[in-house]
Amino acid sequence: MHILVTGGAGYIGSHTCLELLSCGHRVTVVDNLSNASIESLSRVETLTGRKVNFCKVDLLDRQGLRGVFKSCDARFDAVIHFAGKKAVGESVANPLLYYHNNITGTLVLAEVMAEYGVKNIIFSSSATVYGDPATVPISEDFPLSCTNPYGRTKLMVEEILQDIVVADPQWNVCLLRYFNPVGAHKSGLIGEDPHGTPSNLMPYISQVAVGKLAQLSVFGGDYETKDGTGVRDYIHVVDLALGHVKAVERIVQNPGVVICNLGTGKGYSVLEMVRAFAEVSGKEIAYKIADRRAGDIAACYANPAKALRELGWQTQYGLHEMCEDTWRWQQNNPNGYGREIM
Ligand code: UFG
Repeated sequence: MHILVTGGAGYIGSHTCLELLSCGHRVTVVDNLSNASIESLSRVETLTGRKVNFCKVDLLDRQGLRGVFKSCDARFDAVIHFAGKKAVGESVANPLLYYHNNITGTLVLAEVMAEYGVKNIIFSSSATVYGDPATVPISEDFPLSCTNPYGRTKLMVEEILQDIVVADPQWNVCLLRYFNPVGAHKSGLIGEDPHGTPSNLMPYISQVAVGKLAQLSVFGGDYETKDGTGVRDYIHVVDLALGHVKAVERIVQNPGVVICNLGTGKGYSVLEMVRAFAEVSGKEIAYKIADRRAGDIAACYANPAKALRELGWQTQYGLHEMCEDTWRWQQNNPNGYGREIM
């Protein structure tokens, strides 16, 4: 199949391109490179021995996007839509940027898809759409809510895409709600490359381990969890990428709307993550217990049963591999894709 991947040069996007190519699919990427490096795709090409058709296009550029659909010699069988801004704090400070980029970008994409008769879309949603769940594990039929503009863009896009299916049943939409993606490809060649100081836990821990950051602040030690620190469902990015390959195979069977959690079903606390990473890396991870971070919840982990039923997908990698692969990537690329020391 020929798959268009928006945001394909980013963290999850590049891992997904790699798995799609490895399964024999053709891949075209559109990415504006605002938070990604083209180097990720060169490495995907090295790893797979296959070519990625790359187009530096912003989804807000309708003419540019039309050009991609027009110029491709084979029609796209499906679109995997990753492109979007994803920093919660930034979304609170600059909501218009988030609404414009994430919502308008998706509207332009869907309109151009319709123009060219491409009606299969897999959307990168998030567990953030469950807000503060009453219980865990979280199933897909739990009530939806959100607490910040970033989360609202995910929820709004979910609703927009479902409305499109109601209006035109030829459309097929797969909404994948990710839990906490971590890890890197086992080659150590592609991984997460956050700009500036990371706001997510795993890249922060790995930068403490490598000596770039002095100390981790553990946000809250008094949650009602096993050890007082926040619990999350960390999922290996390669498992997540493989979930998209399964979703592509499912969406071409015309299923209408499919909504699945992509998580492991297991929750680990911040301190468990710190300990696991220290063990794998052999480095001490300095930390202090700090105040809770605004907007954080105590515990969030998936019931992943529906993804197994609907997509035939389940995770393969555990916490050890998540830490091991993050550490390999971090050590081999201390400056991300920027100035790697080989
Ligand atoms: N944490 C710390 N210190 C840090 C960073 C994080 O203690 O420096 C803690 C958080 O309080 C939380 C856990 O580590 O308990 C995970 O935090 P992350 O920032 O890594 O991830 P979140 O669960 O807050 O958010 C992630 C994505 C969001 C997405 C959400 C969905 O970053 O985009 O999962 O649940 F919306």
